[in-house]
Amino acid sequence: MHQPRSALDADAVRAAYRRWARIYDTVFGGISAFGRRRAVCAVNALPGERVLEVGVGTGLALPFYDKSKHITGIDLSEAMLERARQRVIQQQLSNVDDLLEMDAEATTFEDGSFDIAVAMFVASVVPHPCRLLAELKRVVKPGGHILFVNHFLATGGMRLAVERGMARASRSLGWHPDFAMESLLTPNDLKRATIQPVPPAGLFTLVTLPHEGGREEPTALVA
Ligand SMILES: C[S@@+](CC[C@H](N)C(=O)[O-])C[C@H]1O[C@@H](n2cnc3c(N)ncnc32)[C@H](O)[C@@H]1O
Repeated sequence: MHQPRSALDADAVRAAYRRWARIYDTVFGGISAFGRRRAVCAVNALPGERVLEVGVGTGLALPFYDKSKHITGIDLSEAMLERARQRVIQQQLSNVDDLLEMDAEATTFEDGSFDIAVAMFVASVVPHPCRLLAELKRVVKPGGHILFVNHFLATGGMRLAVERGMARASRSLGWHPDFAMESLLTPNDLKRATIQPVPPAGLFTLVTLPHEGGREEPTALVA
């Protein structure tokens, strides 16, 4: 089982991002910018207008969507969402339809509500990544796409040792440095997904998963 060593629950996520909200853009905005731009660029190139951005955070990605895409953003943290709302007003982002406080693992959207779902730097933060993917498969139409950009655990070398060491600080960091791709994607997903490293230094990975349709039970939930 490829579960991270120190799991975060929803309250730990809210507490961590209440602390992070004020400084998030300064501390994390820069290093993650390239991955975020790459993911939004991929979304813009895909067919379909209705986009769900889960874990929208402070809304750093929102200005980069094509105006033909209609965005619904959700996040567990009201403190992060408040920043996103300010950004939408200040930059007059008229294609952002809604910013809602909602758990990405259990949303209130109807089946097949979206053409595309995208999660940027979120999969290693949610308490149960498999439930997240199952929920995205439910709310995205068959023939749509699910995208992740994330840091995934190195498969060897010095980076693997460092990331395993950092995992002890997961709760205060608000994410899992030891998050393996297999914690999120089933073997079948791994076969079908397009997996691309993104700078800096391949630290992050963009995963694009075509959604075949059909309901799937989350696989690693029993853990
Ligand atoms: C590292 S931040 C990424 C924010 C944004 N996507 C970006 O690119 O900057 C992770 C975000 O995921 C949110 N989050 C974590 N678990 C969540 C869940 N179960 N449902 C919705 N949002 C969640 C956190 O509150 C936080 O805003």
